[in-house]
Amino acid sequence: SLPPVITIDGPSASGKGTVAARVAERLGFHYLDSGSLYRLLALHAKQRGIDWSDEPGLAAAAAALPVDFSCGGMRLDGIEAGNIIRSEEIGIGASRVGALPAVREALLARQRAFRCLPGLVTDGRDMGSVVFPDATLKVYLTASAECRAERRHKQLIEKGESANLPQILHDIVERDARDAARPVAPLRQEPDALLLDTTALAIDQAVDQVLGWFAARQ
Ligand code: C5P
Repeated sequence: SLPPVITIDGPSASGKGTVAARVAERLGFHYLDSGSLYRLLALHAKQRGIDWSDEPGLAAAAAALPVDFSCGGMRLDGIEAGNIIRSEEIGIGASRVGALPAVREALLARQRAFRCLPGLVTDGRDMGSVVFPDATLKVYLTASAECRAERRHKQLIEKGESANLPQILHDIVERDARDAARPVAPLRQEPDALLLDTTALAIDQAVDQVLGWFAARQ
């Protein structure tokens, strides 16, 4: 049988990436941040002059994306890209390219290739619904929009970047609406996904909840 998979889907800035990475660490599993693939594709397209609406061009680029996740880092065309792809601009690009069916199709096999022993923890928007429908455990992780905006705001301030809370909240609400309204792989809680609302939870409490749910399925 295939290696176990835990999928953690949810809206932007919900903390799912942090929770997923820590769950993977505690279990000694591999970790795939699927949003980074969409972000890397948006960056790659920008560098190559491929328009974020050019579906065939982007699908071809996605299938051949020169990305390397080995050694912890994230290299695009041999260049460290982990920080560059975190910008708001690339986030918007990721959500634009992610709305194109041919792009999602081209990234399917690449995402499934991360399912290796001893197991995989992955986060995104459609990990449980489309990429790993047979996942061992599916979690839908969310928090109120205000709470997510405050967390993102705090992160930016800590990084020494300028941040405007009302603007961040506005961007989050807009991105959620775009991710939920798109016809392909929209953001939504699957019927078989367990809801984890972290509005009033610390990260470690969320991590323990996921580990507890997973242990109960073993
Ligand atoms: O999670 P993150 O903010 O890095 O994702 C950036 C964008 O990539 C999301 O807004 C979403 O549109 C897209 N995405 C997606 N499917 C995923 C992960 C991310 O469409 N599995």
